Amino acid sequence: MRIRVLGAAAGGGFPQWNCNCRNCDGVRKGSLRATPRTQSSIAVSADDVNWVLFNASPDLLAQYKGFAALQPARAIRDTAIRSVVLMDAQIDHTTGLLMLREGRPLEIYCTEMAREDLSTGNPLFKILGHYCGVHWHKVPTERGNSFPVIGAEDLKFTAVPLKSNAPPYSPHRDNPLEGDNIGMRIADPRSGKVLFYAPGLGEIEPHLKPFLEEADILMVDGTFWTDDEMIGLGLSKKRARDIGHLPQSGAGGMIEVLKPLKASRKILIHINNTNPILDEDSDERRQLASAGIEVAFDGMDVKL
Ligand code: MLT
Ligand code: MN
Ligand code: ZN
Repeated sequence: MRIRVLGAAAGGGFPQWNCNCRNCDGVRKGSLRATPRTQSSIAVSADDVNWVLFNASPDLLAQYKGFAALQPARAIRDTAIRSVVLMDAQIDHTTGLLMLREGRPLEIYCTEMAREDLSTGNPLFKILGHYCGVHWHKVPTERGNSFPVIGAEDLKFTAVPLKSNAPPYSPHRDNPLEGDNIGMRIADPRSGKVLFYAPGLGEIEPHLKPFLEEADILMVDGTFWTDDEMIGLGLSKKRARDIGHLPQSGAGGMIEVLKPLKASRKILIHINNTNPILDEDSDERRQLASAGIEVAFDGMDVKL
């Protein structure tokens, strides 16, 4: 299996259009050693020909241009993207679907809960119904249920329900329900290797632990360094955990969680523009490096 990081930033991207935090201002002016990143998405392939998109970022068209494999040019209208899997119904993971409206009906995999949000609070699926149309495939969240995905028939997909928060436009915002947010186990039976992907992960619940422990590669929530990162900068009143993101530092933080795990690569993804780890010269970045933790970037290519 091959995994291509199309966008490694959280909602807003890096730099964010209206942000002048130390990171955004610094990367814009070139006074900080850091690399811009587009909003959260990865593509996964079992055969290097067909690709499954995980999340459809608002930056999808730029990501498309940056990765030639997505346009194989076999016909007058063509794409290598066979289907799209959504981890939640957030803006940064779904808006790109609108950019795919000129094509064939979209094969979209998401939970019942995400489908509900995308048909009500943010009626994207209804809008797409007037263009290409949506073929919805239900992602099961019952424990141990795996499901096949069009375009990656050689891989085995298992969703893991995660406690996070539904988007602000969800009818049940701040009242997390099963299926609002998922992590994904992707196994390749040919190599016996397993990827666990969870760009939004607010809490280490007991049922999640075996998935973290068995994975060969982890790509997990790298949104915030501290729980009060946005509060400290005066940008929000909400804590990282309130919006469904486990911070990296501190007791019970992601660094501590990752430490005992056997995965050969531990990669943080979905990084918010305020996170000090984006500054390659920061002490926080050094702490990650010494813990063997990598920071995803656009164009990162992982084979396993
Ligand atoms: C989140 O995951 O919390 C989002 O990135 C928020 C957003 O898209 O604004
Ligand atoms: Mn997000
Ligand atoms: Zn910023």
